[in-house]
Amino acid sequence: MSDADLVIVANRLPVDRDADGWRTSPGGLVAALEPVVRQTKGAWVGWPGQPDLELQPFEVDGMRLVPVALSEQEVELHYEGFANATIWPLYHDVIAVPRYRRVWWDAYVRVNERFAQAAAAAAAPNATVWVHDYQLQLVPAMLREARPDLTIGYFHHIPFPAYGLYSQLPWRRLVLEGLLGADVIGFQRVADASNFTACVRRLLHFETRASGIRVPTADGGTRVALAKAFPISIDAAAYVELAGRAEVQERAREIRESLGGRTVLLGVDRLDYTKGIRHRLKAYGELLDEGRLDVEDVVLVQVASPSRERVAAYVELRDEIERTVARVNGNSDTVGSSAVRYLHQSYPREEMVALFLAADVMLVTALRDGMNLVAKEYAASRVDNRGVLILSEFAGAADELRTALRVNPHDIDTLKNAILEAIEMPAAEQSRRMRTLRRRVLDNDIEAWSRACLSALAEARDQRMKRSGS
Ligand code: G6P
Repeated sequence: MSDADLVIVANRLPVDRDADGWRTSPGGLVAALEPVVRQTKGAWVGWPGQPDLELQPFEVDGMRLVPVALSEQEVELHYEGFANATIWPLYHDVIAVPRYRRVWWDAYVRVNERFAQAAAAAAAPNATVWVHDYQLQLVPAMLREARPDLTIGYFHHIPFPAYGLYSQLPWRRLVLEGLLGADVIGFQRVADASNFTACVRRLLHFETRASGIRVPTADGGTRVALAKAFPISIDAAAYVELAGRAEVQERAREIRESLGGRTVLLGVDRLDYTKGIRHRLKAYGELLDEGRLDVEDVVLVQVASPSRERVAAYVELRDEIERTVARVNGNSDTVGSSAVRYLHQSYPREEMVALFLAADVMLVTALRDGMNLVAKEYAASRVDNRGVLILSEFAGAADELRTALRVNPHDIDTLKNAILEAIEMPAAEQSRRMRTLRRRVLDNDIEAWSRACLSALAEARDQRMKRSGS
């Protein structure tokens, strides 16, 4: 049925199918977009999270979900292969070594075609289609070819690397051409947008001016694609509301009590090598070894939610993190107190907010991260204006969250000092910094983000209509 005026296309549907039924999909993309689609009553085209699952479109809370089936082999070649073992490590500054395999690329093209077809079939005449993230970079151009009437947006949730790294990609021109099918190409940081524009200039020799890129069209003319930063955010009001609930605050007290009333440091991440979990454990472990921290006074709670568990680099990472946790605990624990509480699990949002409220210090030490919404979730949840955010300068959130304690996570000594500074920070300074962080997150919430993106798309649509004289 082709009747949706707004169609979201993302690798995942907002809900995932697992053995027990449907559950919210992991990651920042879904967390950010779900409220947008709920409000606009659009359609969402995506993969239901399990191989070989052929499902008819269905409705959830006024959203129309259009599942795209992937075979077992496509999950392996497209999702685990090209998306998560080629593009993901390459775009995160080769923290892990990307692999360039031609069979992965072939599957990527095939799967992108399937998503483009499903989106084309779901979109009403002159609709807006908004494609998301690195798994689907070829969809914008494929869609433009199939449906020239559409206004097409693309949002890139992860970093876009500098030319020197991007140029490793054997299919570097094809990927740029795929993205340039969009009228508006959104990035997290200004640096990501300018890396992209520089790659377009050097590899395709297209003319660029400010955020506009002049793209040749099939009829021999040109059109302008916009490449710009739109830093994504969270549904801040939902976090404020949860943090204000008596039962959530009670749960936060219970958590603190169960940890023996110690100072609580918290890390919350997908178990991913981009998140700098190892660096954080190293800094913390050294502080304990040197006697600058005492296990009777402090505890680190590390939530590491399972992610991409069949990709080799993630299997290795899990082993490494778990060995490191065991080593830190083995060296520092007493019979009654453990240095690290390691939780390889995912939790509902209520429990996460209780953890945020229980944490004196939040550690976001990503080595590279598109945005890092956990940093924003922590700030939004601290309705008491307490707590300290340690934030890596390599996370997109660092551009906005200026009053966090900024760190370079590779610099272990500075990271150690920042942890001590955070633990010792006087309440008045905590509150001064936290108020500024919260104002920023509450003013620039997910609604402001989607409004900015959708209004850029509406403008592109107006211009297209004007040009075609309709
Ligand atoms: C990041 C990416 C998303 C992805 C999410 C979870 O937030 O930007 O595109 O969906 O991680 O990863 P997964 O591989 O489980 O979809």
